[in-house]
Amino acid sequence: MLDQVCELKKIAAISAIDYIEPDSIIGVGTGSTIKYFIEELAMVSSKIRAAIPSSTVSANALKNINIPLADLNDVGELSIYVDGADQINHLGQMIKGGGGALTKEKIIASVAKTFICIVDETKNTKAFGTFPIPIEVIKIARSYVARECIKLGGTPKLRENYTTDNGNVILDVAFGIINEPISLEYKLNNINGIVSNGIFGARGADIALIGTNQGVKKYAY
Ligand code: A5P
Repeated sequence: MLDQVCELKKIAAISAIDYIEPDSIIGVGTGSTIKYFIEELAMVSSKIRAAIPSSTVSANALKNINIPLADLNDVGELSIYVDGADQINHLGQMIKGGGGALTKEKIIASVAKTFICIVDETKNTKAFGTFPIPIEVIKIARSYVARECIKLGGTPKLRENYTTDNGNVILDVAFGIINEPISLEYKLNNINGIVSNGIFGARGADIALIGTNQGVKKYAY
């Protein structure tokens, strides 16, 4: 028996299947909500030419259901990218990277025509700030980046015993209430040593499918 939040993740994940065009290559994200999406993909695998996963974990899950993997470098266009989020606001801006896969997530999201975010309703937020911003950092830059984040008003915490798929570390940085996510996203982008940050503001979701107790609610941005 799934708990209530898992049920909401699952219905959101199932509803995303309708957005897959026949014989298409799709981007597939990472996380517990995406696990449900991949389970559903198993039932429509013949419809999918290939998938581009945002992490090793998702790559392995896709291999297990015999969905071929594609290299983003070989793909000029990607119709959809489906992924979860740690938080999403009313503009479709998101905080992502709780699962550590933010860099590939940002890259695939940049290429995809349509970003479909699947979440349960607990991820809805009015203002960012309660979930620390995951920041992927080149190892030797860890202390420097932490000091720069403090200058921007943040409180950094190293994610213990964690290395990303790209061989880097993650700093989870609490900034308090974030009134201008895109401005902070750009400031973080300018710090040397940061590979990417978990504010998906400049490139947010195009569609959110939010699992609620009243069913899946769709928002287009
Ligand atoms: C992975 O790095 C993240 O961006 C996930 O998409 C995000 O953390 C959502 O994960 P859950 O679906 O597990 O909540």
